[in-house]
Amino acid sequence: MPDYVPGLEGIVAAQTEISLVDGANGRLVYRGYVIADLAEEMSFEEVAHLFWFGHLPNRPELDGLAAELSGSRSLTQAAAAALDALPKDADPMDVLRSVVSVQGVRHRLEKPNVPAAIHVTASFPTVLAAFHRRRQGLDPVKPRPELGHAANYLYMLTGTEASPDLVRALNTYLVLLADHGMNASTFSARVTIATLSDMYSAITSAIGTLKGPLHGGANERVMETLLEIGEADRARDMINAKLKQHERVMGFGHRVYKTEDPRATILRRHSEALGRRTGQLKWYEISREVEKTMREDKPDLYPNVDFYSASVYHMMGIPIDQFTPIFAISRMAGWTAQLLEQYANNRLIRPESEYVGPPSLKYVPIDKR
Ligand SMILES: CC(C)(COP(=O)(O)OP(=O)(O)OC[C@H]1O[C@@H](n2cnc3c(N)ncnc32)[C@H](O)[C@@H]1OP(=O)(O)O)[C@@H](O)C(=O)NCCC(=O)NCCS
Repeated sequence: MPDYVPGLEGIVAAQTEISLVDGANGRLVYRGYVIADLAEEMSFEEVAHLFWFGHLPNRPELDGLAAELSGSRSLTQAAAAALDALPKDADPMDVLRSVVSVQGVRHRLEKPNVPAAIHVTASFPTVLAAFHRRRQGLDPVKPRPELGHAANYLYMLTGTEASPDLVRALNTYLVLLADHGMNASTFSARVTIATLSDMYSAITSAIGTLKGPLHGGANERVMETLLEIGEADRARDMINAKLKQHERVMGFGHRVYKTEDPRATILRRHSEALGRRTGQLKWYEISREVEKTMREDKPDLYPNVDFYSASVYHMMGIPIDQFTPIFAISRMAGWTAQLLEQYANNRLIRPESEYVGPPSLKYVPIDKR
């Protein structure tokens, strides 16, 4: 019997060409490209092309993929009906998980393929924006085909075209989170597809896994903490109090990065820049104070991607409960690429458990217990 490894830490469960998380050096690499160099340059569509087709697109290839994505933004009739039927106070991650599942009802055991990846990726922003509009008593806004993935999501959410600054910030975020090695949601997606299930089922597993506060759900908790702190000069005392009570400070720590998460470095810059441009520097300042306090008390815990993304979203006017769903919008590119990769070289993922229960008990009939 192999050793029990809690949390499967350090276990290599797949070979991938999609992304490298270099935890020792704080580097994230997509198919050979160091993401810190490209996050401000690339569009989300370029990353999706890189993941799905294995190379950066030339102009006609990029235009082709952008057209396919923008042509696949509408929901199936069943998915639109499911969206309408869900309660207005539902958690958007639950809405996303449920509607994606309904989108997949006609794809039983279909092999994962790029058209399905495009369809499910394109429809996420539509689900989230339409749900947000409906819960405010507003009509959904039809997608605009000439707008890219980031710009169109913001447009459908608010009904007005977002400024280039906001679109750029969101696009950078979508690029930065598009894939991240064998993270928990990618693992659950791979486990599902490895049984030769279908892509929609695997994405549904992934969304459910991303939702938890130890994974994608952390960004919403970070914003709750920033709001609770309220002013930069209260940060130190409040964080120290949390640490004293052995509470986890959300947005810090990482299973793989033993130095700063390279995505946090970029988002810190965006948080400051957006704070200055929008007159909301306070959220960046509170974040900095939290980071300084953590640095003193827990020098081995660095901010992760979720820490500065919280203030960035908030300054963009995005509702808190859409933070984790936006993570999902981005991670769709990686999930789907990893599913294609798993399927192309599949082996059932089936670890073992170590039985630690009683060795042998004698059955007692129910009326004698
Ligand atoms: C991400 C995370 C789950 C990785 O955890 P992990 O590799 O399993 O590490 P552990 O949970 O075993 O934590 C190791 C130690 O660091 C401490 N620690 C880890 N993250 C912490 C945090 N954010 N705040 C305070 N302490 C933390 C743990 O309490 C533990 O201390 P102990 O050994 O004294 O008990 C963890 O750092 C965490 O919970 N972070 C907050 C949630 C978050 O931001 N998630 C988003 C990840 S991108």
